[in-house]
Amino acid sequence: MRRIAVFASGNGTNAQAIIDQAKSGVLECEVVLVVSDKPNAFALTRAKNAGIDTFSFKPSDFKNKESYESELVQKLKEKNVQLIALAGYMRLIGPTLLQAFEGRIVNIHPSLLPQFPGLDAIGQAMNAGVRETGVTIHLVDSGMDTGPIIAQEKVLVDQDDTIETLTTKIQAVEHRLYPATLREWAESVELEGVMSK
Ligand code: GAR
Repeated sequence: MRRIAVFASGNGTNAQAIIDQAKSGVLECEVVLVVSDKPNAFALTRAKNAGIDTFSFKPSDFKNKESYESELVQKLKEKNVQLIALAGYMRLIGPTLLQAFEGRIVNIHPSLLPQFPGLDAIGQAMNAGVRETGVTIHLVDSGMDTGPIIAQEKVLVDQDDTIETLTTKIQAVEHRLYPATLREWAESVELEGVMSK
C-alpha cells in the first residue's frame, strides 16, 4: 500500500475526500501525513479528526524556501512517505522538495490547464466568460500549475452560474476525480530505489 502525504493550505475538502476514500479502502493508499504551510488551516483539523499525523510550518519563520523544504523532506522521509498529493497547497514547490520526490508529486487545479493557472482560477474563468472550464490533475514540476497532465474533466458554465455555484460544481468533480486518479497513478509510479535516496 502506497504511503501518501497530502499538502493543503486551507479548508481541505479535497484532503478530506482523499482521506475518506483511503479509509474506506477504495483508494488503496495510506494517508500518513497531512502537511500545511498555514498552522491554522482547517485541513489540519480534518487530519487530526481522522487520526492522521500532521506537520505544519510558517514559511516566514525560515530564512528561505530551501530551509523549510529541507525540514519538510526530513519529516516526509521519517514517515516513509512515497507520494505527495497537493490539495489546495498554494505554494510553488522548490528544487529541494522536487528533487527528493521527482515524479512523485501531483497537484489538482480548478481549471482546464493550461487555461487559467495560478490564483483564483474559477474567478478567472468567470471573468473570461468561457462556456466550459473544469478540473486538472497533473504531475508537479517547477512551474506554476504546469507539468504533464494526468487527468482532466470538463465542467459546463451555465449562464446563471455565480462564483459560488461554479465552485460547488467544480469541487464536486474534484472530490470524485482526485481520489480516483490517485488510485490509478499511485499504482503506476515506479518507486524502486527511491526510498534509499
Ligand atoms: C481546490 O479547488 C484546488 O483545486 C485549488 O484550491 C482548492 C482547495 O480547496 N487549488 C489551486 O488553485 C492550486 N493552484 P480545498 O482546500 O477545499 O481542497
